[in-house]
Amino acid sequence: MDNSSNHIYPVIWNESKDCVILIDQTRLPQEYNVVEIARYEDMAQAIKTMIVRGAPAIGVAAAYGMYLGAREIRTSDRNYFLQELETIAQVLRQTRPTAVNLFWAISRMLKTAYESVGSIEEVKDILLETAQTIQQEDLQTCQAIGDNGLSILPTTPEKVTILTHCNTGSLATAGYGTALGVIRSAWREKRLQRVYADETRPRLQGAKLTVWECIQEGIPVTLITDSMSAHCMQQNMIDLVIVGADRIAGNGDTANKIGTYSLAIVAQAHNVPFYIAAPFSTIDFKLVDGRQIPIEERPPSEIYQIGSTEICPKGTEFYNPAFDVTPAKLITGIITEKGVITPQDLIKHKI
Ligand code: MRU
Repeated sequence: MDNSSNHIYPVIWNESKDCVILIDQTRLPQEYNVVEIARYEDMAQAIKTMIVRGAPAIGVAAAYGMYLGAREIRTSDRNYFLQELETIAQVLRQTRPTAVNLFWAISRMLKTAYESVGSIEEVKDILLETAQTIQQEDLQTCQAIGDNGLSILPTTPEKVTILTHCNTGSLATAGYGTALGVIRSAWREKRLQRVYADETRPRLQGAKLTVWECIQEGIPVTLITDSMSAHCMQQNMIDLVIVGADRIAGNGDTANKIGTYSLAIVAQAHNVPFYIAAPFSTIDFKLVDGRQIPIEERPPSEIYQIGSTEICPKGTEFYNPAFDVTPAKLITGIITEKGVITPQDLIKHKI
């Protein structure tokens, strides 16, 4: 991984410190801080508290978490080692329920451990290599998604205006982005006029992270609140919408950051194409449709205060689902590393 350039990598394996370095995404954009993670319990906590967030990025982080846990197991008994690793996997699985990449990465690490022959110490080394491979693959996958996304850009206007929701950029992946990866590729190819970024209540990933990433790269970006998208579309300001995904069911129903579903309805009402950009590791073919996707609920504190200021009366009751499910019928296409697929054709790619 090229650490010398100004690329943003939310998760880095630091060879000399023998630990993982995470960009603390809860502090951006006011402060650029990193945290060193050397124990799997700390990685689980970092995922839960959203120091690292975004579906592919938490998959990468969990993979390293598995290695950090594995290296602490002091035994030469293979069965005991695997049993302990299952316990570590369980702790990591309990961090965030919606993004399937987390479960996918943990399963891949477990499978590697079960299938690796050699001493326990050799298996530990293989687990580190596997976490690095998962990270490297995600980077390449996102670059392919970005470039495949160029094919869906309308030919007129020559430069398009794209609306996006939440943060799906380098910070949310191994380092390029899914929806923001397409935006990045469009910018590189001089096909992008401007990005409109939804602020993404309640945690403001759009305002804090997407705008920050765009500014780092000189991509023209305008911040709007989530409730402004219908107005912008009515004013013909938006050519297409591209968002990411946390889990896609076999029929194409897609869970993504809360507010995505209403954005898709608004897009349909204005004949604006609505695309999902996601790697295949986000597709959960075990689920027939979106009703089976578990939706994370987060603490009321994310709603009842802005910064440290409380904004509602005492006694207010809260509901804070972090994701919603957009029905496949509202999705124009899914941009993946294998090409652009309609939700209806997804099943043909089942592996
Ligand atoms: O709660 P978050 O910030 O982890 O949610 C992130 C999103 O919903 C993203 O849109 C999704 O993970 C895709 S990231 C490439």
